[in-house]
Amino acid sequence: MDHESGDDTLASAGFLRVPDEQGGRAARRWWDANAGEYLAEHGDFLGDVDLLWCPEGVRESQARLLGDVAGARVLEVGAGAAQGTRWLTAAGAHAVATDVSHGMLAAGAAATGAGRGRVPLVQADARALPFADATFDVVFTAFGALPFVPDPHRVHAEAARVLRPGGRWVFSVTHPVRWAFPDDPGPGGLTATRSYFDRRPYVEQAADGRVLYAEYHRTLGDHVADLVGAGFVLDRLVEPEWPAGHERVWGGWGPVRGRVLPGTAIFVTHLPAAG
Ligand SMILES: C[S@@+](CC[C@H](N)C(=O)[O-])C[C@H]1O[C@@H](n2cnc3c(N)ncnc32)[C@H](O)[C@@H]1O
Repeated sequence: MDHESGDDTLASAGFLRVPDEQGGRAARRWWDANAGEYLAEHGDFLGDVDLLWCPEGVRESQARLLGDVAGARVLEVGAGAAQGTRWLTAAGAHAVATDVSHGMLAAGAAATGAGRGRVPLVQADARALPFADATFDVVFTAFGALPFVPDPHRVHAEAARVLRPGGRWVFSVTHPVRWAFPDDPGPGGLTATRSYFDRRPYVEQAADGRVLYAEYHRTLGDHVADLVGAGFVLDRLVEPEWPAGHERVWGGWGPVRGRVLPGTAIFVTHLPAAG
């Protein structure tokens, strides 16, 4: 049953508290509706068979944050159109793509049909994964799932559950420092206007008050607490610098701010080995 019928025209936006259940549920419908636009805008930079970690242009082919993936069982959550999973498959991994949005996965299926590599696509919320315990060696996401849920501890707990002991969990998110600045890639985005410590989500609403989109903030300390709470060991926090000559603007990311402020945080973590 569709709980979210009604006019999806954006009526208001701002930082405000909304019921967790509404905020966490909004992502699926929003990404279904916006999959085409997202991929039309960013698809060429993402690549068809590639794992791009962030707008700064860090690619797994160079960064190797997932370790040696040949023969590894790998799960991507918040996979979007599954370009990363296709890259992993080409690199010899046994990889599965999951996403809460049918629209994003359908774009992945279309790419499969267009001959860019066949990968398993599973529609699933990263907070309730349909896999048995200890199924995977590696779980990862590039900007998927975590920013869109009010209860990220559930995503970390699920990653921990489906990983084998010693398995790796790697994820990229907007750098928490960005929360204090307007989402403007130009000079207007260089002056802090909000508190870094304000955890109210950014919310877009319809005229009837329905939450159309919600994005949640965690401080660096919140992320570390979430990881430690789920039993992970933090190996690296990667803060990619904006590369010289990289002029591409992606939302609030671009060379003007990139030269001054971090835009992305990539957490590389693992579960302790058994015994
Ligand atoms: C910014 S896109 C990133 C997609 C892909 N990783 C990429 O780099 O293009 C965010 C993705 O997270 C997915 N997502 C949002 N909430 C989710 C949830 N609770 N569980 C799984 N995926 C979710 C969205 O459907 C969307 O595909």
